[in-house]
Amino acid sequence: MAHPVRKAVVPAAGLGTRFLPVTKAQPKEMMPLVDKPAIQYVVEEAVAVGITDILVITGRGKRSLEDHFDRSFELEYYLREAGRLDELEEMKRIADMADIHYVRQGEPKGLGHAVSVAAEHVGDQPFAVLLGDDIMHQDAGVLAGMLDAFGRLGHSVVALKEVPATEISAYGCAAVRPLEGHLVEIEDLVEKPAAQEAPSNLAVMGRYVFGPQIFEVLSETKPGRGGEIQLTDAIKALAEREPVYGWTFRDGRYDVGNKLDYLRATVELALERDDIGPPFRQFLLGRLAKDLGLPPRG
Ligand code: UTP
Repeated sequence: MAHPVRKAVVPAAGLGTRFLPVTKAQPKEMMPLVDKPAIQYVVEEAVAVGITDILVITGRGKRSLEDHFDRSFELEYYLREAGRLDELEEMKRIADMADIHYVRQGEPKGLGHAVSVAAEHVGDQPFAVLLGDDIMHQDAGVLAGMLDAFGRLGHSVVALKEVPATEISAYGCAAVRPLEGHLVEIEDLVEKPAAQEAPSNLAVMGRYVFGPQIFEVLSETKPGRGGEIQLTDAIKALAEREPVYGWTFRDGRYDVGNKLDYLRATVELALERDDIGPPFRQFLLGRLAKDLGLPPRG
């Protein structure tokens, strides 16, 4: 492992109001993508880059998150007795793959506030932040690239996705100075700019690598949009004090807190599966043929 980052923080305490009613009594981070909850993809992404100390920021009604990463002796006993040994191993792997800790946010006062409650666990070390409802396709290599950049540059790195001009007004947008390859230096951040006022098409996405300085900045960050402590505001303030870099990418990210993106992620991940992928593809093609008025497929 070439990077110095040993800990990851996964904020998962939001209310998920864009996905009501399902999020009324169930965390959006537990929404299944085929048969795995969203947060499992996120934890596996951290483990894949060598980070196994993971702090999940939880809140009210999020107990199922903890149960998911815990051992379930009843279930394990049942699977063993039934001779379903592959599933048994998989259940144990989920519980053992990382050292997962939990801390409650208390009140969902914004993403910046959620990150600030990790200060004690993280201490004086660099750390990664992976949003619990943002799924990155494993081929995108975003977190690995960001950690490599952090290892070389020693300053915070933020994931920036190129989005169509029509979509930039939904995100924090970065004004940047291009460096080499995927790397840019962030000069300014503008929250949800109108398309014609956006300084770029680069939107801040849910992966960050920070030095511990971010906690000091967060402690000074006043509530911003929506009365919440915004992580974007803190990154903007950090960039005024020291270099902050961006890692740009194009594809492979889904916001599963958004209904349409959730459906896209489900379809993409289902099509890639060896077991259900082929029959699901047949189903989709048949459905499309019907929509297009083509004769039924044989
Ligand atoms: P979102 O911006 O998607 O917020 O948070 P939200 O409040 O959950 O969702 P909507 O807009 O009401 O549908 C991005 C990530 O930050 C976490 C969320 O759980 C999500 O994983 N978050 C957000 C917190 O942990 N605490 C907060 O106060 C806000």
